[in-house]
Amino acid sequence: MNEIHQKAEVTLRRITAKTVRSICNLSVSENQRKFVAPNAVSIAQAYFSKNAWFRAIYADDTPVGFVMLHETPKLGKYFLWRFMIDSKYQGKGYGHKALELIIKRVKKMPKAKALTLSVIRGEGSAENLYLESGFKFTGKIEDSEHVMKLTY
Ligand SMILES: CC(C)(COP(=O)(O)OP(=O)(O)OC[C@H]1O[C@@H](n2cnc3c(N)ncnc32)[C@H](O)[C@@H]1OP(=O)(O)O)[C@@H](O)C(=O)NCCC(=O)NCCS
Repeated sequence: MNEIHQKAEVTLRRITAKTVRSICNLSVSENQRKFVAPNAVSIAQAYFSKNAWFRAIYADDTPVGFVMLHETPKLGKYFLWRFMIDSKYQGKGYGHKALELIIKRVKKMPKAKALTLSVIRGEGSAENLYLESGFKFTGKIEDSEHVMKLTY
């Protein structure tokens, strides 16, 4: 059993041939499935997209989640496309720490003025986490999801 705890160091790591299966095995709870696609689907989509940037989220040396951005540096457009922490590891602050790392990364990217995302509102939604990290609702709704934006 891995001893991981709130003080664990959260890092974003490249997915390799060795780790891809363990990342695909990470999942959210049944009632959260409407919020995020399975990681295997996201990785398959990334394979066909020139704009996808994705990483596994680790707490110390344990894989706990997945993040994927859609990036268009030429236009300075950065979109948080997928973001999940496995249900076993939720509520330990890993999502918050990973989001901070993502925000920092985008800040250093060309022409980055904002990071956007879209969220399904309602019970169990990640909107509070995004609000705590400085995202604001833009008022736009795309495919029934509410667009949020963090301005640098
Ligand atoms: C959203 C998510 C990534 C947060 O990860 P996490 O590691 O559990 O988050 P943290 O422990 O850092 O908690 C940060 C905040 O998220 C919220 N949160 C935590 N667990 C949550 C849960 N199971 N459901 C809803 N919100 C939750 C809380 O508001 C918490 O704030 P607090 O510090 O005031 O308690 C994770 O719950 C998840 O994968 N959810 C399902 C997929 C999803 O909704 N992805 C986002 C798509 S837009």
